[in-house]
Order: sequence, then structure tokens, then C-alpha cells
Amino acid sequence: MKPEPAPMPRPGILDITPYVGGEAKATGFERPIRLASNESALGPSPKAIAAYRAVASEIHRYPDGSAEELRDALGRRHGLDPARIVCGAGSDELITLLLRCYAGPGDEVLYSRHGFLMYPINAMAAGATPVAAPERDLTTDVDALLARVTERTRIVFIANPNNPTGTYLGAQELSRLHAALPPSVLLAIDAAYAEFVNRNDYEPGIALVDRADNVVMLRTFSKIYALGGLRLGWVYCPPGVADLLNRVRSPFNVSAAAQAAGVAAVEDIDAFNRARAHNEHWLSWFSQRLTALGLVLTPSVANFVLARFPDDLRKNADAAFAFLQSRGILTRKMGAYGLPHCLRITIGTASEMETVAERLAEFMAAR
Ligand SMILES: Cc1ncc(COP(=O)(O)O)c(C=O)c1O
Repeated sequence: MKPEPAPMPRPGILDITPYVGGEAKATGFERPIRLASNESALGPSPKAIAAYRAVASEIHRYPDGSAEELRDALGRRHGLDPARIVCGAGSDELITLLLRCYAGPGDEVLYSRHGFLMYPINAMAAGATPVAAPERDLTTDVDALLARVTERTRIVFIANPNNPTGTYLGAQELSRLHAALPPSVLLAIDAAYAEFVNRNDYEPGIALVDRADNVVMLRTFSKIYALGGLRLGWVYCPPGVADLLNRVRSPFNVSAAAQAAGVAAVEDIDAFNRARAHNEHWLSWFSQRLTALGLVLTPSVANFVLARFPDDLRKNADAAFAFLQSRGILTRKMGAYGLPHCLRITIGTASEMETVAERLAEFMAAR
């Protein structure tokens, strides 16, 4: 008998290497120091936790499918028109939806060589071809991106600041990139770490979205607001893009708990300022300590550092990762990003940072 044909995935799906998140467990440690996923050091606002709990007795109800209160709160906080905001189950979902709307087989999706991995993964899931542009000093290179724009390019994704390098493009460079793109190409600025940046020449993308029909800005509640477990993100976009996203998203894509906690988080300015000040202090402290140990750091403006280790087998990134893990400290290996000689380390609490710096000093000093 002829074997029955098995269901076949669409072309390209089997070429996708699944995204592997940061490690959360270290054998022998009940509460390891978790610095592998760029989660916020101080945890969520107590008001967000209270709002989350308050929803418990109502979870038999569907959430507000338009996330109106949350979009209004975001609009007030950032001075934006709520009608141009679309919320999603993490900004990951919005990346997926943008690609579903704008790119398919035969199309190209452009991103920076060490850009966030979900851009090429989602481009392939949509049937499109991801195209990586080389970087300069681990920083997005506008000219390299522009050199790779073809008549097939549909979207350019820029993480600004970028994960995992921590580097950023100033407002002028971003404007220059936008000005040279054909109006038919969508520029997606992923500003997941915007709230941590403390640079005068930085702009998260709002100004560009306001003056162009082909720019969107993505934001997340997983970083400074520390709500990664709830899955909540948003995009500020031209009305036409919002209309498309609202057509393709599932009607209840953001849970009631995420909406309630999100509103409380956005309105808790004190918690926001504490998280920002904490990061500013410890990012600088930790960067200096690691540099003094002889590690090479990219100048990060986000809530993590990318540290380059020596090539020596006993001192390389893999050895450092294993050394730290065996002491209950979880960091992120960077092989999947083409940076196997680096580890990415999130800024944690004060005592976590002191402990990691001490352990790394021991690692570097050991013969
Ligand atoms: C640049 C960038 N964009 C988007 C995300 C995804 O965020 P979310 O948790 O909102 O899906 C991350 C998470 O690490 C990120 O680093």
C-alpha cells in the first residue's frame, strides 16, 4: 500500500531555528541570580501587582478587546493619540503581526547583523527572506542597511537600542535612514529599551512616526516595567497601519490581567524613576568593574552589558558562562547572535551586581 502523505509545513518553516530564551535554572540553586533575559532588576510596581490581583475575581470575563483604558493611559503618559496605538501580547506578537501584514514569499525583510533574533525568525515564518546588513563596531550601520534595500524590501527592523549589543543610533542617523528609504518600505523601530536610555541625541521614534506614513515604534512592558510574565507590548503607528493590525490580531490578544497591570505600571511614575535611576547607577558601576578586569564592553545604553571575553580556552565566554552557572549565576550565551566570544549580562539588584563582579574577578584571576 502507498503510504499516506503527511501534512507538510509551508516552505521555509523547517529552516527556522527556534528562539531559545535565557536560562532560568541552575542545578543546586533554588534561587539563582537570573541575569539572562534583561528583566528589570527591581521587579514590577507594587501598584501593578495590586491591579493584577484585583482582576482575579473577574477572570471569567473576556478582556476589553480594544484595550481602551490602557491605550488611553499610554496616550496620556507619552502625549499620543490612543487611536494610533495597538497593544499586543508582548511586542513579539506585534513584530509577528507587522510581518504578517507586510511581508510574504518573495519579499525581503532587512535587519542589522546582530539585531534581535525575532526579526529573522518571524520574517521566515511569514515566508519572507530575512536580509542581514553588517554593523560597524557592533552598532547598526545606516549605509550598510541602505545598500541592501532592493525593490523586494518590505520592512526594515531596527532595535534601538539594540539587543544584544546595547548600542544605539541617534535621532539624526535614524532620520537619515528614514529619509533614504523608499516610502513603500516600512521602518519598524523597536524601542524595547528606550526608557533606560540617558542620551541627549536619542529619540525613541515618536517624532518620526508623527511625520511619516511608513514608520512604526514598538514598545514593551517586559523591560523597565518588569511585566514580562504577563506579555504586554504596544506599537505607535500611522492610522493606516493601526487599521491593518486591528484586522489581523486576535480579538482578545491582551489579557485582562495584563491590561490592568499595564495601566497601573504606566501611571506609577515613582516606580519608573526608581528603576531608571537604579539602572543608570549600576550599568555604569558594572561596566567600569568589568572593564577594569580586562573585558571589552560595548557602550551599552540599555539594562544589560555585552562583554567580550579573551579567546584563551580557560578564559573564553563558554568557560565564564560555566564558571558563573556553577556558582548560581545565569547569563546569556551569544552564539545564536554570531557573538560566541561574548556574554550578555543583565543589570540586576545591587547585591547581584556586586556578587557577579566578584565572581568574574575570581574567574579572570584564576590560572
Ligand atoms: C529588542 C527587543 N524587542 C522585543 C523584545 C520582546 O519583548 P516582549 O517581551 O514585549 O515580547 C525584546 C525582548 O527581549 C527585545 O530585546
